[in-house]
Amino acid sequence: MKYGYFDDAAKEYVITRADTPLPWINYLGSDGFFSLISNTCGGYSFYKDAKLRRITRFRYNNVPHDDGGRCFYICDGDTVWSPAFLPAKTALDAYRCRHGLGYSVFEGAKNGVSAALTVTVPMHTDMEVQKLVLKNESGETKALTVYGVTEWCLWNAVDDSTNFQRNWNIGEVEIEGGTVYHKTEYRERRNHYAFYSVNAPVDGFDTDRDTFLGRFRGWSEPQAVELRTSFGSVAAGWAPIAALRLNVTLAAGESRTLLFRLGYVENPPEKKFAALNVINKEKAHAMLAAFETEAQFDAALAELRSYWETLLSRFTVQSSEEKLDRMVNIWNQYQCMVTFNMSRSASYYESGTGRGMGFRDSCQDLLGFVHLIPERARERIIDIASIQFADGSTYHQYQPLTKRGNADVGSGFNDDPLWLVACTCAYIRETGDFSILDEPTPFNNETGTEVPLLEHLRRSVSYTVTHRGPHGLPLIGRADWNDCLNLNCFSLTPGESFQTCSNFESGKAESVFIAGMFVKYGKEYAALCDRIGLHTEADEVRASVGEIERAVLIHGWDGEWFRRAYDAFERPIGSRKNAEGQIYIEPQGFCVMAGIGGADYGRRALASTEKLLGNEFGIEVLHPCYTEYHDYLGEISSYPPGYKENGSVFCHNNPWITLAYCTVKDGNGAFDLYTRNAPAYIEDKSEIHRTEPYCYSQTIAGRDAKTYGEAKNAWLTGTAAWSFVAVSQGILGVRPDYDGLIVDPCLPDSMDGCRLSRLFRGTRYDITVRRGANKGLVVDGKAVSGNCIPLTSSPSCLVELTI
Ligand code: BGC
Ligand code: NOJ
Repeated sequence: MKYGYFDDAAKEYVITRADTPLPWINYLGSDGFFSLISNTCGGYSFYKDAKLRRITRFRYNNVPHDDGGRCFYICDGDTVWSPAFLPAKTALDAYRCRHGLGYSVFEGAKNGVSAALTVTVPMHTDMEVQKLVLKNESGETKALTVYGVTEWCLWNAVDDSTNFQRNWNIGEVEIEGGTVYHKTEYRERRNHYAFYSVNAPVDGFDTDRDTFLGRFRGWSEPQAVELRTSFGSVAAGWAPIAALRLNVTLAAGESRTLLFRLGYVENPPEKKFAALNVINKEKAHAMLAAFETEAQFDAALAELRSYWETLLSRFTVQSSEEKLDRMVNIWNQYQCMVTFNMSRSASYYESGTGRGMGFRDSCQDLLGFVHLIPERARERIIDIASIQFADGSTYHQYQPLTKRGNADVGSGFNDDPLWLVACTCAYIRETGDFSILDEPTPFNNETGTEVPLLEHLRRSVSYTVTHRGPHGLPLIGRADWNDCLNLNCFSLTPGESFQTCSNFESGKAESVFIAGMFVKYGKEYAALCDRIGLHTEADEVRASVGEIERAVLIHGWDGEWFRRAYDAFERPIGSRKNAEGQIYIEPQGFCVMAGIGGADYGRRALASTEKLLGNEFGIEVLHPCYTEYHDYLGEISSYPPGYKENGSVFCHNNPWITLAYCTVKDGNGAFDLYTRNAPAYIEDKSEIHRTEPYCYSQTIAGRDAKTYGEAKNAWLTGTAAWSFVAVSQGILGVRPDYDGLIVDPCLPDSMDGCRLSRLFRGTRYDITVRRGANKGLVVDGKAVSGNCIPLTSSPSCLVELTI
């Protein structure tokens, strides 16, 4: 069943009913100011950091889930309604939510009045603008009372929801015409404030939440709204809000446009105040002046649309597969940009208060957006590398605002360092910018420790080589990619973090997955060394790759698939010798991509993967699921069977299998798996899948779960990047390389060909792929041997490939 449809021409997903199984959200903002917005207009805003600069309040664990956020009330006679259904919850005569690229539109109608609310964060401004167009289609005059309301968060989202003995004393606002300024803590150390404003004289306001709502009332039925009034309350502590009221009379056929603006301002310390404890509002005034008129708003929206058009035009496909095209051309790339902006910090599943930017997450995300925003990818690589330690290990996370490693989560995830090699090589292949390797980059952000970035890569590689266990395989540490395979943890204390505790540091537990990664990325590092003339180092690294590859062949191959790990007692995991968890997905993906054991092992590993782990929605993490908790395995066995790392389809690593299929040239296998969880392909199972049909979720409950097929944790997942890599570089086969653009599609039999367009190093490549007898590559009319289109200085290039 569907709850809407794709409008590909508009690049929108159109939701046609408010009661989606879960809030279906969108992201607004592209630089500093970000908002989450659901299909009922819920969500929240923050500046750069969802924990430290939370602008509006949102209650996780709320009922209804999506209450609060942006509240609009339209009072018409006895009826009060909201254009996006919540918070008023009045049944609407018409409802539609159109989530577009960086904006969302809500079209509601009731009793002959229509409201079209367009919400966006215009480019180059720290402000969310909400354009509300009211139209009287009733044939008689309507006297409406309209409210726009926002609830402030007291900046630090954790303190805001915990430290009430202080919080309920510090809330402060200033009111100036139709603008409410939120200035809690501005009197002391903060240099930032927020504002909510409407571009018309208001007829009343409230800034104290409990006065506005009244006792025993929630957002669906505020007292002020019920009375069609405002109390003029001025917040003093408690919960400051901005509730703006306008009386709007519309003649038959008349319409009225209002612009509500939610902004964030920082002032330098010496310019904080206009008078004693009165904030300097100059910047806010300028921001408001830039969005006073509908024309200004429409121009900003047009600018945003053209920004996305240009961005997405960097890679497009036209094929016989409509759903493939819409994923590749629009939604998958869009999600990659969202993960660039958010990493794993803020969604409806990530509270924005815990996880910041993950080291491995950010490195992998980069694989999906490097072709879109190479300059920002460069900066990101340096930021990530700057939290690495001198021995090559690294902090696991950092806060986006401070860019400092997060000591609470610590280090010791032994896959982390290798992802830096992966993303740096991808960046250089995309851009040809070898100079990044010379960029002075500190360890642990300490000034004075800067070394060229290349040295960071070198230490990443040597960290793996020098941290090996009894079988010559890399030590796993806290965990590898699978955060829940905690082989040195041995936790028996409820609530203890599986990722940070270590009650038995065996120094023995090893990961076959990291071994596969090392073989793949070690080879890439060696090739990079060769390119910059470091041949001796390249040979040394290749020798280490050879050793680890042999260790995998001897100790990592279980007969029909690759094993997963060795535990603290040197026992295999992911082996037929185990009662549960006999086979895991991760090493099948990486060892096959790395070419370990060649196509023979590859095909056998993939056949076992499909046979034992395959379900309708993809490939499960492991099989059979763990039915009880084992302290020597850690968090993986804490989940009920079929959920999360204990046997769900963890979408992030499914593309590794897709790529593994491409490695063994099995286009049918690759495409079949791709379509099993690509959102557009499972749109019609939305009542089972439940999360948004236009973005990937992290996990889909497996066969052993009580809710098989149900997805969770939409949006912020490495699935976005890896799926894009799998489809664009694997199935469609367009791979940037140092010397040119490789075109090496691995299409299913059902596809006869496709047309591709790719902007690469300043040249637009228009590529036609078709099946035929005269196989080969023709570039600008000339036959080229192999599958790499050589670099050219010409702005465009016509390519024909016959497969
Ligand atoms: C989740 C993992 C996640 C980890 C991060 C675990 O609870 O299952 O998916 O990577 O937390 O800390
Ligand atoms: C989600 C985390 O963000 C990611 O880093 C990890 O690899 C997966 N979970 C698997 O545990």
